[in-house]
Amino acid sequence: MISHNDSLHDVCVVGAGFMGRQIALQCAVYERSVKMCDISESALRLCEKEQASLLEEQIKAGIVSAERYQEILDRIHLTTSLEEAAADADLVIEAIKEDLEVKRDLFRALDKICPTNTILATNSSSLRVSRIETATSRPDRLLNTHFVQPIWKHPFVELMRGTATSDKTLEAVRQFSQSISVVPILVRRESTGFIFARIWRAVKKESLLLVDQGIATPEDVDRTWMIQMETPMGPFGLMDIIGLDVVRDIENVYYEESGDPSDAPPKLLADKIEKGELGVKTGKGFYIYPDPQYKQPSFLLEASP
Ligand SMILES: NC(=O)c1ccc[n+]([C@@H]2O[C@H](COP(=O)([O-])OP(=O)(O)OC[C@H]3O[C@@H](n4cnc5c(N)ncnc54)[C@H](O)[C@@H]3O)[C@@H](O)[C@H]2O)c1
Repeated sequence: MISHNDSLHDVCVVGAGFMGRQIALQCAVYERSVKMCDISESALRLCEKEQASLLEEQIKAGIVSAERYQEILDRIHLTTSLEEAAADADLVIEAIKEDLEVKRDLFRALDKICPTNTILATNSSSLRVSRIETATSRPDRLLNTHFVQPIWKHPFVELMRGTATSDKTLEAVRQFSQSISVVPILVRRESTGFIFARIWRAVKKESLLLVDQGIATPEDVDRTWMIQMETPMGPFGLMDIIGLDVVRDIENVYYEESGDPSDAPPKLLADKIEKGELGVKTGKGFYIYPDPQYKQPSFLLEASP
């Protein structure tokens, strides 16, 4: 049932947050041996809990058989030691904070720890791997692998080369992605934001501006989107899931690159972050969780007063 690319069997995921835990679980479901590393012990404990419930969801949805529950979770080993997690890895996927210098430091460390043939990938949403590759001695074995959430429901990954990524590296990761049931989409030229995120960014930027300029409420932006596009949530609901601090960090990368003041994250985001309202993960963002207003059946029937 499962096709294997044995050359990339041992996977290390660095960063056990929102994306890292999903990437690791997808690899474990498709029979990879996974080691995860995070600097925070509490992030690892939360990761363990979240992976168990993500797996339960997949079992309920009939994607994974219930008998495999423990076997899959046992494939994932959690540690705070980067050496322990990365020393034997065939493929390392980094999913830590969206900060160029922090990522470069990590890749510098990985380059020392990992065997020379290990492929190093970044899940960054907005940093091109060419901005990271000079921190290593192996630019031919580096690339962007941009997974989107929830991986098991939106199974595609955008693959993008740096300045020196080899055909062999790209092909190995392409096959690996297919073998974990995630469709690899090749980004043919370096592009900050890849493909989908560039489309999403335009929507997100305009949505934030509409509210920042007092033109619409977040709820009404989401209502119009949900009715028109027939989606279960709108841009603000999605930003809450991503995390408003993560959204701000991503917007900052675009802003630093363009220098265009209209690309700076709007005050609306800064205000929310200052109040600790980061979205689903803190129980409040543009909506209140666990039962956000947009999930109520009446949401689409009434506009904001
Ligand atoms: N949130 C999304 O929807 C989304 C989607 C696609 C890509 N991404 C990208 O994935 C990456 C991770 O995003 P996230 O939302 O999972 O973030 P997150 O904040 O949920 O998790 C990041 C984790 O990394 C850990 N960490 C920070 N520095 C570390 C280090 N040096 N070594 C080990 N662990 C470290 C933190 O403790 C935290 O647990 C970012 O680059 C982001 O741009 C995010």
